[in-house]
Amino acid sequence: MKINDLKVVYDAQAIAARVAEMGQEINRLYAGEELVVVCVLKGAFMFFADLVRHLDMRPELDFVRVASYGSSTSTCGTVSFTKDVEVPLQGKHVLLVEDIVDTGHTVDFLFRQLAARGAKSLRLAALVDKQERRAVPVRVDFAGFALPGGFIVGYGLDYAERYRELPGIYEAVIEPEGA
Ligand code: PRP
Repeated sequence: MKINDLKVVYDAQAIAARVAEMGQEINRLYAGEELVVVCVLKGAFMFFADLVRHLDMRPELDFVRVASYGSSTSTCGTVSFTKDVEVPLQGKHVLLVEDIVDTGHTVDFLFRQLAARGAKSLRLAALVDKQERRAVPVRVDFAGFALPGGFIVGYGLDYAERYRELPGIYEAVIEPEGA
């Protein structure tokens, strides 16, 4: 697969405005509560960094990384931790931060794992909720944008580890095989 062109889907300004709104929604829900915000590496790093700067409850921050086995552009059902949470979650509200929910396998795995650590509540903030290939039902509590389909890069999202640094989200126009 080769990327031929990039078409803007959400520019930096649209993302910043939506992330600010999401931050206020999260502030309202967790006002006066203890919250742990967990970033799912690597894709969510930029969204997470921007989102937590809007939060005013002095959250604890942590990071996880998972590996999923399947092709490079899809997640199958086998997911495992390559970096676990370090902050104790027992009795605390936990907000998982994802860049994108696609098949749902990653979030399904993480919800099961984090629930087993005794979290008081578990919610999900995802910048992009992509429904097309959903294989496992996932409740996205705070969704930035809903996208029907397409292959997107930028603002943390990669293709073969490139394009993550782009300030906007782009649809990748793929060169057909053999072209
Ligand atoms: C992407 C994305 C989510 C996951 C969503 O991660 O960041 O974690 O896939 O897909 P799913 O809903 O089908 O499970 P990826 O495996 O590409 O790793 P990365 O975040 O390090 O880029």
